[in-house]
Amino acid sequence: MFDVLETLNTPAYILEETKLRRNCELLAKLAEKSQAKVLVALKGFAFSKAMSIVGEYLSGCACSGLWEAKFAKEFMDKEIHTYSPAFKDDEIDEIAKLSHHIVFNSVHQLMQFQTKIKQSKIGLRCNLEFSMAPKELYNPCGAFSRLGIRACDLENTDLNRVSGLHFHALCEENAESLEQVLKVFEKKFKNFLHRVQWVNFGGGHHITKKGYNIEKLVELCKRFSDKYGVQVYLEPGEAVGWQCGVLAARVLDLVSNEKMIAILDTSSEAHMPDTLLMPYTSEVANARIIATREGEKISEKRQGEFVYVLGGNTCLAGDIMGEYAFKKELERGDVVFFLDQIHYTIVKNTTFNGVRLPNLVLYTSEKQFKIVREFSYLDYAKRN
Ligand SMILES: Cc1ncc(COP(=O)(O)O)c(C=O)c1O
Repeated sequence: MFDVLETLNTPAYILEETKLRRNCELLAKLAEKSQAKVLVALKGFAFSKAMSIVGEYLSGCACSGLWEAKFAKEFMDKEIHTYSPAFKDDEIDEIAKLSHHIVFNSVHQLMQFQTKIKQSKIGLRCNLEFSMAPKELYNPCGAFSRLGIRACDLENTDLNRVSGLHFHALCEENAESLEQVLKVFEKKFKNFLHRVQWVNFGGGHHITKKGYNIEKLVELCKRFSDKYGVQVYLEPGEAVGWQCGVLAARVLDLVSNEKMIAILDTSSEAHMPDTLLMPYTSEVANARIIATREGEKISEKRQGEFVYVLGGNTCLAGDIMGEYAFKKELERGDVVFFLDQIHYTIVKNTTFNGVRLPNLVLYTSEKQFKIVREFSYLDYAKRN
């Protein structure tokens, strides 16, 4: 997949600059056509040395609290929008200094902190009680959700300091889902929409995925901002980091137990957590998926192929990536590449079992590998 790899330490997340730029260009074009401002949600995509690249195209960062706001300031220094399910008393002053927008999750937090907010614009997160999210784990508007304020709970609230509204109701969804969500939002929050200057449509827009209906998204954003005279914001995370890099891992050993099994110097649990949570089976470069990580058969082995179960280097029995067919036999020392492993990996990984954190590598447009961070024993020792 890449030319020079023998010397590259594994495991490593390799972010490909040209692919990241391609995503960002598309998002920048969308912003230009729709007049919406696009922020990168750091919870989904944070890669220190690439933030200045993203900042060439997008308006700023959507942050989940103090540390992400500090990261946004340090590595991009554009608009900073901070929302948290609950802000802490001892952090709010610093967050307020850093953030252009602060979004509160409850009327209580608005009342508690609004006097401390001097410069930032204040917004409220709305709970639409409607979502098309594919799974309850990723449904912020489901029953008993703690995320956002229901329209009925906003009546009779003093909204003097509030200049914007925010919702987040999508997960890897298309523009048609957003259309449905907007209908509900407009209906439920109609009493408040004419009073605000900005509305944030949250994340979950799968904009850079092939087949996404960008024209529809442009039309929805434009129509909405024209109708209410507001600035629309979008804050995708996944769409920024979508398919723009890999997790490279080495085969440490090959064992057999009725099937051939390759043990890698990575872990699905520690380095690709969404493969277990979503769950899904990651694609691997130059290989076909034969069975999912749970063992469900996907396709038959073809003649001349070599099939391996790929497994992680932890003691978790289920630390399995899946079963794959390769065109050539795997050998100890070979490198395999798990595709699309940049978003929601680096931001979520752990040192479970004392496994090494994958290094961060930038593969530049000039086809150079730049080591951004190398992790060591200290990273494990310091957090345990
Ligand atoms: C409030 C908020 N904004 C933005 C995002 C980013 O979503 P995505 O990475 O799916 O675009 C999330 C994800 O959970 C979120 O909770």
